[in-house]
Amino acid sequence: MGTRIAGTGIYVPKTVLTNFDLESMVDTSDEWITTRTGIKERRIAKEESVLEMAVEASRNAIEEANISPQDIDAVIVATLTPEKRFPSTGCLLQAELGMDKGFAFDVSAACSGFVYSLDLADSLLKSGKAEMVLIVGVEKLSEIVDWEDRSTCVLFGDGAGAVVVKLSEEDSDLLASSLRSDGSLWDLLYAEKCGYIKMKGRELFKVAVRNMEEVCKEVINRAGVRPEDIDLVIPHQANVRIINSLAERLGIPGERFFINIDRYGNTSAASIPIALHEAIKEGKLKRGDLVLFTAMGGGLTWGAVLMRF
Ligand code: ACO
Repeated sequence: MGTRIAGTGIYVPKTVLTNFDLESMVDTSDEWITTRTGIKERRIAKEESVLEMAVEASRNAIEEANISPQDIDAVIVATLTPEKRFPSTGCLLQAELGMDKGFAFDVSAACSGFVYSLDLADSLLKSGKAEMVLIVGVEKLSEIVDWEDRSTCVLFGDGAGAVVVKLSEEDSDLLASSLRSDGSLWDLLYAEKCGYIKMKGRELFKVAVRNMEEVCKEVINRAGVRPEDIDLVIPHQANVRIINSLAERLGIPGERFFINIDRYGNTSAASIPIALHEAIKEGKLKRGDLVLFTAMGGGLTWGAVLMRF
């Protein structure tokens, strides 16, 4: 039995904030943002709460997986912008979905939250502790962005992506994974309680490329495949230049990297599940393909997961 992604769903907020809009808010330009990051616009949750976005994305994933919420026995929500301090957004989501069994919790691993959660879900499934897991990456980063700080406010966006995973006899599985963290580097990227995102961008850039390269190579080797066998890489969408550097270092052609940062910016834990959903819808990821997920974020945390989709 292997771990299979049975359904995906997303919710992106209605309000679009373009680089041109930002030009009237801070001293920046569309040209600077586009060339330095690859971002053209992002979504801002003006009306939507974290929980509402998580519920919408989850309902879509559950419908696509052709299951009922009652079939789910574990809910994992990856977020650094939870709905409340407590209870977890996972528990609130469980109630909204009308689930009356199982367990729910949040994972705090910043931008690596989805990769951490996917690996955790695989462990729950394979240890027999759950049969069907709902993973949601959801963020409302607009709440913790300092809209007067041009070095960070141009980078982030809001949204949610959800994935249903289950054990299956079909030819799908999580083949290898590597999760890492280094708490000594926490101050490269953080937000105090009730504070704004603080980031040392230039330092983070170098560490991001190096760390993701390391874990990607590790999972590729451990799974006994070659870089050229990877059909699609779905990286965390933090900066298109980070993604291009990673592609070069891994020796995987840039066309095999899924990129949607131009439309959403960095949505932290939501970025990979949103990208995964769009990759499937656009026909870029098909059953049987080898797909590599990798992320790096505050913590510092980083990781990679290789799956047969
Ligand atoms: N518009 C115009 N100029 C700007 C802007 C802006 N929005 N922001 C910064 N600048 C200026 C700076 O003030 C600086 O000016 P100076 O040379 O006069 O001092 C100049 O542009 C260059 O600034 P850098 O910070 O060196 O720019 P860099 O090329 O490094 O790009 C960026 C910055 C985009 C943040 C990049 O460093 C990056 O992407 N870093 C990694 C981010 C990341 O990986 N995050 C991890 C995950 S996020 C998470 O976990 C939530």
